[in-house]
Amino acid sequence: MTVEKMAEYLWGLPEQFASILEQGISLPVKYQHNYSNIVVTGLGGSAIGGDIIRTYALQKAQVPVIVNRDYDMPNFVNSDSLVLTVSYSGNTEETLSAYHHARTQGAAIIAVTSGGKLADIARQDGYGVVKIPGGLAPRAATGYLFAPLALIFEELGIVKGAKTDLKETVQVLKAIREGIHPGVDFPENQARVIAREMKDSLPIIWGSSARSETAAMRWKTQINENAKSPTYYNIFPELNHNEIVGFGMPKDLLARLVIIILRDPADHPQVKKRIEISKEIVRSHVKKIVEIQAQGESFLAKFYSLAYMGDYASFYLALEYGINPSPVETIDYLKAELAKA
Ligand code: F6R
Repeated sequence: MTVEKMAEYLWGLPEQFASILEQGISLPVKYQHNYSNIVVTGLGGSAIGGDIIRTYALQKAQVPVIVNRDYDMPNFVNSDSLVLTVSYSGNTEETLSAYHHARTQGAAIIAVTSGGKLADIARQDGYGVVKIPGGLAPRAATGYLFAPLALIFEELGIVKGAKTDLKETVQVLKAIREGIHPGVDFPENQARVIAREMKDSLPIIWGSSARSETAAMRWKTQINENAKSPTYYNIFPELNHNEIVGFGMPKDLLARLVIIILRDPADHPQVKKRIEISKEIVRSHVKKIVEIQAQGESFLAKFYSLAYMGDYASFYLALEYGINPSPVETIDYLKAELAKA
């Protein structure tokens, strides 16, 4: 995939939500059940939608939602569980294995995929399959991968207002992209400015709460996969109980850290204080501190406003390094080696 294609997919994220909203989801009546738990199983770009819906459900749902990134299923999964198996390609071995465990344990299963073995097996087994458009890198298809989960949750009565929140997300992202797309140059383009700060540095992403943890994770994985660079993340208040002590040594490494803080105007007042104190603790040791405020009202709009900035910043970081953000040859190599075995 070319650089231009990746730029096109970044621009098209709001339209991914809009197209799933327009298409809608219709589930057989057998899925209407009082589930005792919900598991989203997947890996990488397909799993992160699970984290978004898990965090969304924390505030909106009565039922616990967990994300599984493994070959197995948690032991508690049974006939009162709903398992959403998400794999963009439909061929990820861990997800296929987890699917089989979920089936053996008697769970209700819905597959979200663009095709592959997962679509075939789930259809043969009589489970629901939500087919999404193929041909993108999974991480560039986050709208296609997440929106069906939100609609499934709404359709099953697990959360209310998902469609409204997705519509707000579309509007917020459309406004944000006007300021950060490749036609907007440095220094007006905030994502390009952040990319230049991150160049030749180690970005450390701090989410301001458990709600922004998934946005911090998305920043990390996008920097890894697009810019082929290392980066790590943590969240408040947890990082005040360990990571904050680690700004003593080695001085030359600390001097190359760029701290990126993802904030939400609705953060706990104590967290707001913690962030200010933490900035003062690390300021003289690190290269730079960058802060990004979430935009919008709903959790989904806020999440995606933070994540979208990271999607573009990681894209520009790849360009700063003179590399194509699209290929993930190391992941392809690992999958091919494992397939041989
Ligand atoms: C590649 C990417 C990866 C994949 C992961 C699982 O863009 O983001 O993290 O998402 O290797 O593959 P799928 O999504 O096909 O199940």
